[in-house]
Amino acid sequence: MLVRKFKPKDLKEVATIFKDGSNSPPYDEKWTDKSATEKIKEYFKSGIIFVVEQDSKVVGFVTGFINTYYAGKDGFIKDIFVDPEYQHKGFGKALISEIELYFKKQGVNCVNLRSNAKAKVSKFYSKLGFKKGSIMIGWYKDI
Ligand SMILES: CC(C)(COP(=O)(O)OP(=O)(O)OC[C@H]1O[C@@H](n2cnc3c(N)ncnc32)[C@H](O)[C@@H]1OP(=O)(O)O)[C@@H](O)C(=O)NCCC(=O)NCCS
Repeated sequence: MLVRKFKPKDLKEVATIFKDGSNSPPYDEKWTDKSATEKIKEYFKSGIIFVVEQDSKVVGFVTGFINTYYAGKDGFIKDIFVDPEYQHKGFGKALISEIELYFKKQGVNCVNLRSNAKAKVSKFYSKLGFKKGSIMIGWYKDI
């Protein structure tokens, strides 16, 4: 297993992992190659992406970004996906460790993320030391 920063040559593999994962249960979204590629490009431009490789194949990735907060900098994890064939083998944990290390080096002292209510990821995040927030509530408006 190798965790490293995303390189432009990873774009297709990462976009495919994102698209296939997001279009499958429990999300059942409708990403295309084009929209998934656009999304990953946005994170390459304005945030950070780490990939995890096994036998020279990209099998998962995590995206994130950093925001300034009055008490210091906050790190945000946006998306994390591991190819279903490679799940439960420690790849997700390795991706979280790597982005946390990156955040720490950038002066971040708190990592945040939002998870989809449909996702059964509570155990994954709680095993990695995350606690459920009770202050921030998600809001949205179609415009
Ligand atoms: C969530 C996800 C990234 C986890 O990646 P993974 O490589 O399977 O996780 P790991 O093997 O590193 O697991 C780390 C720990 O969490 C636990 N864990 C992982 N997935 C779990 C699950 N679905 N239910 C219970 N525990 C789980 C593991 O048992 C492991 O614990 P351990 O260290 O005590 O053995 C992966 O399941 C995935 O890509 N899911 C689809 C996309 C998704 O829902 N992303 C999250 C959006 S918020």
